[in-house]
Amino acid sequence: MAKARQSSERGNAANDGARETPDILSLLTSDHAEVRAAFDDYERLGEDSAKASERQELAQRICRMLTVHATIEEEFFYPAARAAGVDPDLLDEAKVEHASARTLIAGIEAAGPDERLYDAKLKVLGEYVNHHVQEEESELFPQVRRAKMDLHEIVMPMATRRAELMQAGLALGHSSDQAAKSSADASAMG
Ligand SMILES: [Fe+2]
Ligand SMILES: [Fe+2]
Repeated sequence: MAKARQSSERGNAANDGARETPDILSLLTSDHAEVRAAFDDYERLGEDSAKASERQELAQRICRMLTVHATIEEEFFYPAARAAGVDPDLLDEAKVEHASARTLIAGIEAAGPDERLYDAKLKVLGEYVNHHVQEEESELFPQVRRAKMDLHEIVMPMATRRAELMQAGLALGHSSDQAAKSSADASAMG
C-alpha cells in the first residue's frame, strides 16, 4: 500500500516537471535576499572606509535593484494578487511603502557619497526595505498562497520585464528615471 502511494507520488512529481520553474513567490523572495545581501555589503564597505566611488557604485546598484523590483511588483504581482482576492488594504499599504522608498532612493541618487548624511540615508533605506520585505513575506505571501492564484502564470512576463528594465538602467547608467516612469504609468492604470 505504502509502496503504491510512493510510486504514485513519484508519478505526480514527474508530471509536475513543467512546474519545476520557480514560482512567482520564489522569484520575489530571491530578489529580496539579493538586495538584503547588497545592503550588508554596503555596511561592510562603510566599516572598511572604502573609497567613495565604490560606495556610490554599490548604492546606485541597490537603488536600481529596488526600483526595478518595486516596478515589476506593481505592474504584475500586486494586480494579480488583487484580482485573486488578496486583502486590498495590504496591497494599498505596500504601494504607499514603495512610494516612500522611492523618495528615499531619489534622495540618495541626488546626493554625493562624500555628503555627511549619505551613509545614514542608505541605512534608513535598508531598514525601511527590511520592514517592507518582512511584511510581504510574512503577511502578503501567505495570503497569496491561500488565494486561488496561479503562481506561475506571471513569472515569464515579469522576468522579461525585469531584464528589460535592468538593461535600460545599465544602458543609461541610471535606471530610476525609466523605472519610475514605468511605475507611474502602471500606477495611472490602477
Ligand atoms: Fe514590495
Ligand atoms: Fe518585494
